[in-house]
Amino acid sequence: MVTSVLVTGGIGYVGSHVAVELIEKGFDVHLVDNFSNSSVQQLDGIRQIISPSKSVSFYEANIGDTEKIQKILREQNIKAVIHCAGDKSVAESVLMPLKYYDNNVGSSISLFKAMESCGVSILIFSSSATVYGIPKGIAISEQAQTAPVNPYGKTKLTIENILNDLCRSGSKWKTMNLRYFNPAGAHVSGLIGDRFDNHPSNLFPIICQVLTGKRENLSVYGNNYDTADGTGERDYIHICDLAKAHVEALQFLLQSHNSPIPGALNLGIGKSVSVLEVIRAFEDSCNLQIPYKIETQRPGDIGKYFADPRAAQKNLSWTPQKSLKDMCRDTWRWAQNSASTTVDEN
Ligand SMILES: NC(=O)c1ccc[n+]([C@@H]2O[C@H](COP(=O)([O-])OP(=O)(O)OC[C@H]3O[C@@H](n4cnc5c(N)ncnc54)[C@H](O)[C@@H]3O)[C@@H](O)[C@H]2O)c1
Repeated sequence: MVTSVLVTGGIGYVGSHVAVELIEKGFDVHLVDNFSNSSVQQLDGIRQIISPSKSVSFYEANIGDTEKIQKILREQNIKAVIHCAGDKSVAESVLMPLKYYDNNVGSSISLFKAMESCGVSILIFSSSATVYGIPKGIAISEQAQTAPVNPYGKTKLTIENILNDLCRSGSKWKTMNLRYFNPAGAHVSGLIGDRFDNHPSNLFPIICQVLTGKRENLSVYGNNYDTADGTGERDYIHICDLAKAHVEALQFLLQSHNSPIPGALNLGIGKSVSVLEVIRAFEDSCNLQIPYKIETQRPGDIGKYFADPRAAQKNLSWTPQKSLKDMCRDTWRWAQNSASTTVDEN
């Protein structure tokens, strides 16, 4: 029997790629999103990518609307939820913590209540490496201390804790917290990707702004870290590899009898690359120069860290396949496509 899955934040960056992977693997996929950081262009992109014989339904709704979510869960006979909806800017969370506690934690609780009342007990949550705060080591495993240093990271850890408590409560809950390191890239079609028409804080969308003339240059914060070239290093993982891990995690939960231990898995590739390496890889991919200027280090920024991804690779039988070059090439294709079709909202 085909399993029906609801993806919250389903037309956002992660949700849209997860949706495509799920549909390709034969799941019956339903999306919910309130358009707070997405546009209908992304939904059109998903529909263009999937084969004509397949379909996906979309509901414009806030996941905090318990009754509306209950109705969707019942109508579509949903068996599992992949929960990607949420606000994601660290900087904004520092300025507007209530927005983050309300939309990330408050709306998630409402979603979980709706699920519980409808007997839906399988959930995969979009968590983040920010739960580790300032890591003590460089290769971070799931056993590393969790000590987030900003409201965004704290909301992620709070939601993880709620889910862990639900699993311990003796009910049927089976959940998995996927801690993303640095998702980057876009679908190879260039039809869906990470929007860069708003106020991005991640490196790849900012580079898209520079390449499409929306920004003069790229600020590189710090060039005297203890790294190969002095600039900060992060663990970038192609968004399609990340999306595939969700499908594997879902299969894992569907087949397991109890909630898995550990309930959290790191999604990264297990090595870091520097900002300058990303710039060079991008320049090679698109044959354009990326003007940048070195700025002083930002307080709280960490020089280098990457995931220890062995638990995800072992438990999910999953290995990331795509390279930094793929991330740059696919992002550039998305940027060109998106810049030619997007109406600038700023
Ligand atoms: N992209 C990253 O670098 C990254 C890294 C770590 C974790 N995450 C987490 O992954 C999840 C998805 O991230 P993303 O990059 O796709 O972000 P995104 O902003 O592109 O997608 C989130 C989607 O959720 C929707 N949304 C927000 N609040 C909602 C609500 N109350 N009801 C319904 N829809 C709502 C937005 O409109 C958006 O489409 C987020 O929870 C984010 O915290 C992202």
